[in-house]
Amino acid sequence: MRRAKTWLTILLIACACMLASCQSVRKEEEKNSLRIGISLYRGDDTFINNLCSILEEKAKEYERENGIKVTLDIQDAKGSQNTQNNQVERFIALECDVLCINLVDRMDASVIIDRAMTAGVPVVFFNRQPVEEDMERWNQLYYVGVDAKETAVLQGQMVVDLYKEHPEAIDRNGDGVVSYVMLEGETSHQDSLIRTEWSVQTLKDGGVPIEKITGGIANWERSQASALMEQWLSEYPDTIELVISNNDDMALGAIDALERAQVSGVNIVGIDGTIPGLEALENGSLLGTVSANKEIYASAIVELAASCVLGETMPEEYPLIDGNYYWASQEILIHEN
Ligand code: GAL
Repeated sequence: MRRAKTWLTILLIACACMLASCQSVRKEEEKNSLRIGISLYRGDDTFINNLCSILEEKAKEYERENGIKVTLDIQDAKGSQNTQNNQVERFIALECDVLCINLVDRMDASVIIDRAMTAGVPVVFFNRQPVEEDMERWNQLYYVGVDAKETAVLQGQMVVDLYKEHPEAIDRNGDGVVSYVMLEGETSHQDSLIRTEWSVQTLKDGGVPIEKITGGIANWERSQASALMEQWLSEYPDTIELVISNNDDMALGAIDALERAQVSGVNIVGIDGTIPGLEALENGSLLGTVSANKEIYASAIVELAASCVLGETMPEEYPLIDGNYYWASQEILIHEN
């Protein structure tokens, strides 16, 4: 009887070992492929669209270099948090290993976080930063973005440097004051407020005598910015010398309005370094922009997504700040002449 019991115990242990080894083989198998669910707040946003194309390239590059098959499931939430929550639900049902989320409403990440935590699926948020309280809910939540204050200081500094070198090129009418208008992004976006505040502060600190004519919210959109600029040009004729825009698309909207009104000589600065933004920089209609290193930005998202699934530490070239944040670098780009 005792011997039978011993054999039974041995048999059970053997079974347990076999089961564990089967599971570890399955885990090994999983490590050869990676399924990433990506949801964009709006697929028609120029910067997000440009970034997403690079993200696809970087995923292929990762696949080639690491021999791990990477499948991306990219969805457009079209500005609806509800749609995005449903997309997340579907990603989880499809057994995505990790989610990369460009939140629609950065204040409303709780449903996504609840679902991800329950399913044990890590989340890499990007570009639209969840509030700290949400980020602190789980150690498998990450954020990749650019530092908004740094962006703004670079934008302001670009104008300060140009003013110091050639004041006449910035103070176009030579009256000792640079009259500007401000185009702002979405009010709920962490970047808008900080960019607006710090680019102006940097101009002041840098000794540029500025005066605000007016400003308005154009929600990152070219057409909205174009309508605002058209209105300002008729309200304040021959007054605007500088347009400070929270992004390139709105700067392009201002350029559209200037072209329509056949007004020249107004300086415009943007942010992003999007493809159409860089074209405008090349042809001189845009004076300058602050461009995030999108290659690094996109690579960081892929590397981070992969490393949290594979349980590896992030490669050294992508240092995480405070454990869960990665900030991509940025640079000033100015029209050559
Ligand atoms: C900003 C970017 C804007 C817009 C926005 C969307 O960082 O400058 O152009 O893409 O993100 O969240």
